[in-house]
Amino acid sequence: MPLMTTKPMFDLAYDGGFAVGAFNVNNMEITQGIIEACAAEKSPLILQISKGARKYANMIYLRHIILAAVEQYPDLPIAIHLDHGDTVDLVQTCIKDGFTSVMIDGSHHAYEENVKISAEAVKVAHAAGVTVETELGMLGGIEEDVVGMDAHEYEKNVEKFLTDPEQAKDFWKRTGCDSLAVAIGTSHGAFKFKHEAKLAFDRIEAIMKTCPGLPLVMHGSSSVPQEFIDLVNKYGGSMPNAKGVPEDQIAMAVQKYGVCKVNIDTDLRLALTAKIREVFATKPAEFDPRNYLGPGREAIISMVRRKLHVLNSAGKAEAVNKHWEKLGKPLPGYYKK
Ligand code: G3H
Ligand code: 13P
Ligand code: ZN
Repeated sequence: MPLMTTKPMFDLAYDGGFAVGAFNVNNMEITQGIIEACAAEKSPLILQISKGARKYANMIYLRHIILAAVEQYPDLPIAIHLDHGDTVDLVQTCIKDGFTSVMIDGSHHAYEENVKISAEAVKVAHAAGVTVETELGMLGGIEEDVVGMDAHEYEKNVEKFLTDPEQAKDFWKRTGCDSLAVAIGTSHGAFKFKHEAKLAFDRIEAIMKTCPGLPLVMHGSSSVPQEFIDLVNKYGGSMPNAKGVPEDQIAMAVQKYGVCKVNIDTDLRLALTAKIREVFATKPAEFDPRNYLGPGREAIISMVRRKLHVLNSAGKAEAVNKHWEKLGKPLPGYYKK
């Protein structure tokens, strides 16, 4: 039953030239699409759940959908992770709900407050055997909304929001986190760059130097495939100027600069939405959900399979399982009841 924390995954990813894909799940079809792709490619994976997903789907359903996947593919290394947890209370609830990993995102707070809530989250999570991701720096998209700045302003001033390498060192030391989400020019959503799409590779390199051994996480890493944008725009949608992180830059961040976890949500949403729009537009009489959610799920499978090659995680499941066994098959307390 290789349900695990992120530790066995990141131990190998750190200098193994691959990253683990962290995919956001909100319902059964999305989860199945991700799982089928990872099973076909024998890739470890992280299924992540946001506060919004918990609210939408109800955690009881999401947990059982994920445990069904674990039962269906017992050899697939899977972590259940909280995405952008905003309070220690939520972290605690997720630990009780069987998450194997959590994120506490205090990046919108002042530095000292971020240190404080992150260290607190690490304390409660580690006591339960759960790994913790924290965040330092500010991404565009969702996070700039917090301070009321538009995407264009963010992009113009991006340098000042990037993670500071010296501060990252202090932050890691004081929080004891297991991985760190860094701001390196990405943003959430489908409109990441108004101008040239460009990651701050020098910043990743600098943080790797000040924080050797700390797995780095890239949020906002959807590539916004043009084929989906074209379908959306062709079949009644309107997403002009949608732009993601080019896949060659993601591959470089992972394979050359050592990023260990890559977060993808928007591409899943786009795949599903594009296919549903296509079915509705080309078959106006269609009303069986299986006939539009099914093609959406298929599109997710092929998109994720391709992504696993960009992340170079295809074929790494067995090595992760072996490492997990070597570590003594650690699992959070929840599963030892
Ligand atoms: O980074 C955020 C994820 O894309 C989750 O988005 O809060 O709408 O579920 P959500
Ligand atoms: P995207 O919006 O680029 O898919 O990023 C998702 C993410 O970072 C989830 O935490
Ligand atoms: Zn994110």
